[in-house]
Amino acid sequence: MSFRAVFIAVVLGTALLIAAFMVHRYRPRVVIEQPSAAFVRASGKCAECHANLEASIVHEYELSVHARKGINCLDCHHPAANQQGQEHHGFTIAAHLTAGNCRSCHEPIYQQYLRSRHAAAAWAGVYGSGDFTPEQIAIGETYHPGSCRRPANPLTSLEGGPLSQGGCARCHSIGRPNNDGTIGTCTACHTRHTASVEVARLPSTCGQCHMGADHAQLEIYNESKHGVLFAAQRSLLNLAAPPQQLTTHDMFVPTCATCHMSGLGGRGVTHDTSERLSYHLFAPITEKRANYTLAQAHMKDICRNCHTQPLVDRIYQEAEQVVVSTNAKVQAAQTILDALRKDGLLGPKPFAHPIEFLYFDLWHYYGITAKHGAFMGGADFVQWHGAYPLVKNTVEIEAMARRMRREHERKK
Ligand code: HEC
Ligand code: HEC
Ligand code: HEC
Ligand code: HEC
Ligand code: HEC
Ligand code: HEC
Ligand code: HEC
Ligand code: HEC
Repeated sequence: MSFRAVFIAVVLGTALLIAAFMVHRYRPRVVIEQPSAAFVRASGKCAECHANLEASIVHEYELSVHARKGINCLDCHHPAANQQGQEHHGFTIAAHLTAGNCRSCHEPIYQQYLRSRHAAAAWAGVYGSGDFTPEQIAIGETYHPGSCRRPANPLTSLEGGPLSQGGCARCHSIGRPNNDGTIGTCTACHTRHTASVEVARLPSTCGQCHMGADHAQLEIYNESKHGVLFAAQRSLLNLAAPPQQLTTHDMFVPTCATCHMSGLGGRGVTHDTSERLSYHLFAPITEKRANYTLAQAHMKDICRNCHTQPLVDRIYQEAEQVVVSTNAKVQAAQTILDALRKDGLLGPKPFAHPIEFLYFDLWHYYGITAKHGAFMGGADFVQWHGAYPLVKNTVEIEAMARRMRREHERKK
């Protein structure tokens, strides 16, 4: 071969390489960042198509512990027990995923979750017991008597289907009944593809549902010393620490999950968020739970990883006094309504008279908020979102009740 031929070949070859590089540079990112052959094999070929269709979803999955441990797309997406399958480009996938698709590998966690009020009780609080099997009701009633065997909440029919589905059902779906016989959705806290404990430990994750006038836990937390320190020191915390080995060196500031779920100092990690609660704070009149002593000891054990006993005892004593005092105020208002009902001034139909809204706001917004604030460090919520409007509504209820009685007398 002559020198000229070699020279032309080299020049042409270089030009082609440069051209290829230029063309490649201007191709869209999703095309350049094709998953490697090994990744495609590991994900069961699903990523081959879906990295182009929904790059973000595949990327979330790539970040997960699941991807690192070789759990592939089909491991979650194949039909679990009692699920309908559908053909999908040569695979069979389930039309809808539920806790049943996680349970297959995380059964003990599913069982813990079933014991919590996040399971059947959450859905029954809105739609009543009708959507559950008798066995599911029995489990819920064993751990939380009265939580599952009850009628639908009257607000659902007052507000109507679309509003209660877009509101109540979105949050309370954490315990929804699924067609495959399982309950709930694990991805309410873990997200579907990241499936991470890091996300689940964030206050904002719980705050998706635990916020607002009737359960202002997120706002209370943000006001507390814990919330302030979390905002300041978040980058120093090891939010991804493995749950079984979690210590206060990883999480020296608590989030919702630390107090209600994490394992610390010998107390095991749990998906039963009811395990450490000693009161029914969400009730109009708060009473002790059946397992009061044990549950309170469990929570105090968690505090004791970071605090001295006198501090913890003082907070509980103060909060328990707030419960007693709030109960007395709610009881006084309730007595007024009971008397109106007894004397025939209020009918049996709920939410039919303005005074019932005053009373509902009194216990459901202000009473609950004061009690939650007292246990979780939110002084403003005990006071200006709690005690003060509680007193104000009491005065309004008294005045309205007097007016109702006067009008009633006049009509006689
Ligand atoms: C040959 C390409 C291809 C392959 C391989 C593929 N998919 Fe898809 N998939 C699609 C297309 C196209 C859609 C239509 C929706 C879209 O993404 O725009 C889709 C939709 C889906 C949906 C939504 C279904 C729905 O009804 O809402 C899921 C879930 C899904 N795919 C999962 C998977 C899983 C899991 C695998 C591997 C077992 C897989 N796909 C393999 C192309 C593919
Ligand atoms: C940890 C279990 C898990 C793994 C692993 C997993 N998925 Fe999913 N995926 C889910 C869940 C749960 C949903 C929500 C399904 C539903 O709404 O019924 C979902 C939904 C989807 C959807 C529809 C999303 C949308 O927003 O429209 C697509 C597409 C999808 N997955 C593709 C994939 C692909 C591709 C992989 C692998 C790269 C994968 N999934 C791995 C659990 C998983
Ligand atoms: C095929 C089995 C399998 C399925 C199905 C599965 N997982 Fe996993 N999951 C695993 C394995 C294995 C690990 C890693 C455990 C370890 O390293 O100790 C894991 C770890 C996790 C972790 C801990 C992640 C972390 O950041 O440390 C979470 C959370 C999780 N899975 C949630 C889910 C959820 C939610 C679903 C259903 C949408 C699901 N898993 C479905 C097998 C599975
Ligand atoms: C998708 C919405 C949703 C998310 C996300 C959520 N919860 Fe809940 N949670 C609820 C509902 C609804 C209830 C009320 C259930 C009932 O008593 O009917 C509840 C109740 C609770 C209770 C009281 C249980 C009892 O026995 O009274 C605790 C504690 C709790 N959640 C903690 C958490 C923590 C911690 C997180 C975050 C890691 C979290 N929740 C995330 C909806 C949610
Ligand atoms: C923003 C999310 C969200 C919405 C919307 C929501 N809830 Fe709740 N609900 C919660 C949380 C979180 C709790 C737990 C509060 C606690 O334990 O302190 C709760 C508690 C309850 C309880 C007391 C617990 C029980 O089991 O008796 C009832 C009843 C209830 N909700 C019914 C409803 C109804 C009915 C609607 C719609 C009219 C509704 N909720 C809308 C999140 C929500
Ligand atoms: C209320 C929010 C919430 C729900 C619902 C939830 N998880 Fe979790 N999960 C968490 C939190 C928070 C952690 C980390 C606890 C900690 O701080 O160590 C966790 C940890 C885990 C882990 C790691 C546990 C370990 O010991 O390594 C797995 C696996 C897991 N969850 C699976 C599930 C499955 C399966 C479901 C559904 C049955 C589910 N989760 C429902 C909040 C939730
Ligand atoms: C420092 C620990 C701590 C932190 C952080 C914390 N809580 Fe609590 N929480 C408590 C204590 C203590 C109680 C009252 C326990 C009892 O009843 O004995 C409580 C009560 C609750 C209840 C009330 C259940 C009922 O009976 O109405 C819910 C729901 C709840 N917390 C959710 C959350 C959420 C969501 C966050 C984060 C935004 C959070 N908590 C942050 C310690 C904590
Ligand atoms: C993971 C560690 C951790 C846990 C668990 C924890 N705390 Fe804290 N808490 C802190 C830190 C750190 C501070 C700030 C301490 C300081 O400035 O000295 C704090 C501050 C407080 C303060 C404010 C003290 C003051 O006057 O400034 C109170 C009250 C408090 N915690 C109560 C509790 C209670 C009650 C529990 C259990 C229900 C609890 N904490 C659980 C870490 C924790």
